[in-house]
Amino acid sequence: MVLPAFAIAQKIELTIDMSKSGAKIDRNIFGQFAEHLGYGVYDGIWVGRDSAIPNTRGIRNDVVNALKAIRVPNIRYPGGCFADEYHWRKGIGINRVKTLNPNWGGVIEPNTFGTHEFMDFIDQIGSEAYLSVNVGSGTPQEASEWLEYLTTNQPTDLAKERVANGHSAPYKIPYLGIGNENWDCGGNMSADYYLSQLKIYSRFVRNYNPGQQNADKMLKIAVGPGGDEPRFTEWTETIMKGWKERSWSWDMQGLSMHNYTVVDWGTKYKSVGFGEDEYSRFLKETLKMEDLINKHSAIMDKYDPKKEIALVVDEWGAWYAPLPGSNPGFLVQQNSQRDAVLSALNINIFARHADRVRMANIAQMINVLQAMIMTDKEKMVLTPTYYVFKMYVPFQDATFLPVTFDAGKYVRGAIELPRVDAIAAKGKDGKLWVEITNVDPNQAVDIDLATIGMNVKAAVGETLTAPRVDSVNTFEKPNEVVPKPISAKVQDGKLILKLEPRSVTVVSVK
Ligand code: AHR
Repeated sequence: MVLPAFAIAQKIELTIDMSKSGAKIDRNIFGQFAEHLGYGVYDGIWVGRDSAIPNTRGIRNDVVNALKAIRVPNIRYPGGCFADEYHWRKGIGINRVKTLNPNWGGVIEPNTFGTHEFMDFIDQIGSEAYLSVNVGSGTPQEASEWLEYLTTNQPTDLAKERVANGHSAPYKIPYLGIGNENWDCGGNMSADYYLSQLKIYSRFVRNYNPGQQNADKMLKIAVGPGGDEPRFTEWTETIMKGWKERSWSWDMQGLSMHNYTVVDWGTKYKSVGFGEDEYSRFLKETLKMEDLINKHSAIMDKYDPKKEIALVVDEWGAWYAPLPGSNPGFLVQQNSQRDAVLSALNINIFARHADRVRMANIAQMINVLQAMIMTDKEKMVLTPTYYVFKMYVPFQDATFLPVTFDAGKYVRGAIELPRVDAIAAKGKDGKLWVEITNVDPNQAVDIDLATIGMNVKAAVGETLTAPRVDSVNTFEKPNEVVPKPISAKVQDGKLILKLEPRSVTVVSVK
């Protein structure tokens, strides 16, 4: 009897040549995104100073502690579509203005979490700010005054207002997004129209912080594509050509790209209570990230062969149907072992493109879409995706090392996927770090790992798997999907590892 390909347990051999180092895996590819959307900010981060939930100046302590552990390098804020309707003055001072949030459920936006609260939150978790300014419905003057308010140390009226509101030192703003999806929710602009706006905002929205005038200069990120259709390749062409032909008076350092794993925008799929068909279909879909990066990088290479402009994938992740009973505008979904595998595959794609992809922001950090954390009043639970980000911490600012392997195949119906994926890097700690994903939901995989230019003695680390592809952590059962220790055997100078089905594994090699 001939067994189908997926039923044959294959051994996979991986080889890492220590002499062939690549680009730095920028820690910023592990960035997060926090939009004023559903419970992303209110309840997720902000509970208010008078809350019974333990907090520091209104920001929940449990969430801060959890985020510190994954070393969040940057947070994109305040949106998203929300950013292009955001007016920062409504979120400072004693009298906050109540507005509406028409994009996300039409609820009241109290503006109690605003500029100072966000910067305090960033500070509490040890992260950096990636602010998106309002290009859709705001003005260059409004954005320019926000940056003056935040960053000048001169005694201007705006700076005095900041001091009166409790922050005497200028804030550091390392990353500035000029708009959001201005081809769609950000004002349905043509690429040419947006390019004109970009030039104006880039010119006038200045960072005055004395500490950010030279090496630590604020990086300006333009709106980029949201897919592979001709309108998006034309968008990338227009912005990159515009940049190449720029005058001294404006510049940009990054081009954003958005790509969600959806499968079908019309009929969204469930985030829990699914089987192997949906597992394989979503992973197939998520691997399109590679094609999209290749497509837009090729256009960028034409105008920027030295790769001065970073491709910033500042919205990515799985987008499923809202959980039954939730406000559909709040984008609440569960997060399963499938999402753990999906996030590892995407991070590995970013790492392999580290020379161009130097920043990425998963959507979104708390309670929204593919979140790290879910909260419900005083309760908090960490998701499988959270644990993947935790396991990948050693890859932040590590140096990429190519891994050669024949990935094998996992087949489900008409869907064929690589059975394993892997990356390696030399960490800032000097150690060799290896990540291996076993995509196959049914079979363990035997790994033989050989290193050229290093005598291996041991490998230890963590592996994340779960009983089912749709296993989740809940408030009642928070430890269904948690990493457990793993170690390799050494045999004939190679490391031998057995990886469980549907697993993500990170080991350090000695
Ligand atoms: O992340 C949710 C939304 O998706 C963002 O607000 C928008 O930019 C994108 O369409």
